[in-house]
Amino acid sequence: MLLVTVVSWLMCSSVAASPVEISSLPGIDGHGVIQTEANSTVSLLCVVDAPEAELVWLRNGATVKLQEANKYGNSSVCVSPVTASDDGAVFSCHTREDAASKSSVTLNVTYPPPLAAPEQVTVEEETGLALSCGVQANPPVSSVKWTINGSVVDLVESGFSVSSDGVTCVLSAAVAQRSLHAGAYECVATSPVYGTRTKSFQVTVADRNTFPLMPIIAGVVVICLTAVLAALSRWRRIAQCCK
Ligand SMILES: *[C@@H]1O[C@H](CO)[C@@H](O)[C@H](O)[C@H]1NC(C)=O
Ligand SMILES: *[C@@H]1O[C@H](CO)[C@@H](O)[C@H](O)[C@H]1NC(C)=O
Ligand SMILES: *[C@@H]1O[C@H](CO)[C@@H](O)[C@H](O)[C@H]1NC(C)=O
Repeated sequence: MLLVTVVSWLMCSSVAASPVEISSLPGIDGHGVIQTEANSTVSLLCVVDAPEAELVWLRNGATVKLQEANKYGNSSVCVSPVTASDDGAVFSCHTREDAASKSSVTLNVTYPPPLAAPEQVTVEEETGLALSCGVQANPPVSSVKWTINGSVVDLVESGFSVSSDGVTCVLSAAVAQRSLHAGAYECVATSPVYGTRTKSFQVTVADRNTFPLMPIIAGVVVICLTAVLAALSRWRRIAQCCK
């Protein structure tokens, strides 16, 4: 009797394996992509044509925890607020019994380059100088400009080089020189959608400590302290003798 029930249930579920369907607000384009923006909300709804079928949601392959009341026949998931880290995230839905027949959507999250607090940078003369500026954005920034004291940095004249991996843009010089490199810098990242974002740096080039002053001071302090302690203990002994 039990066996019959299980078999008929299996047959039922295979017959009822109608595809799951995802709908979304905002809508899904023809390529399964949802266009959205950082700080906004995306509501996803998965529906299967079997009211008692349990649904499973995945975000980039990891199971999304669902309330018991949000599992059967239809299930909704809300992403709020959407963040830059949701860009490219894939949300999939399938029934518990049939993981192979899943439906997926991908988020395309637009976001500006990051805001950054001003930075104070102090380097010793003759050592390396590197200034880092976050430039990751969607759509990608169209340009990154570096200025010193208000003028565009002349890479050749200043001995600077610029590198960028799309996440961080770095202005670096192998050998810092006060006359060339001290000053107020700005990294200006321009987004075709969000306008410009600016990060400021104040670079100070300090004298190189060629004379190893600190070890010498430490040595002198130790010698003096030893002498004082020795004198003190002798004086105590003497004092005790004289009691
Ligand atoms: C989202 O909010 C943060 C903090 O309130 C803000 O810095 C950022 O610019 C906002 N992003 C968008 C795309 O509006
Ligand atoms: C994602 O959105 C950006 C900005 O609107 C657009 O340039 C890009 O083509 C979109 N990518 C996809 C896969 O839809
Ligand atoms: C930038 O301005 C500061 C302050 O006026 C000055 O000390 C520094 O030498 C200038 N830097 C360059 C590279 O001209």
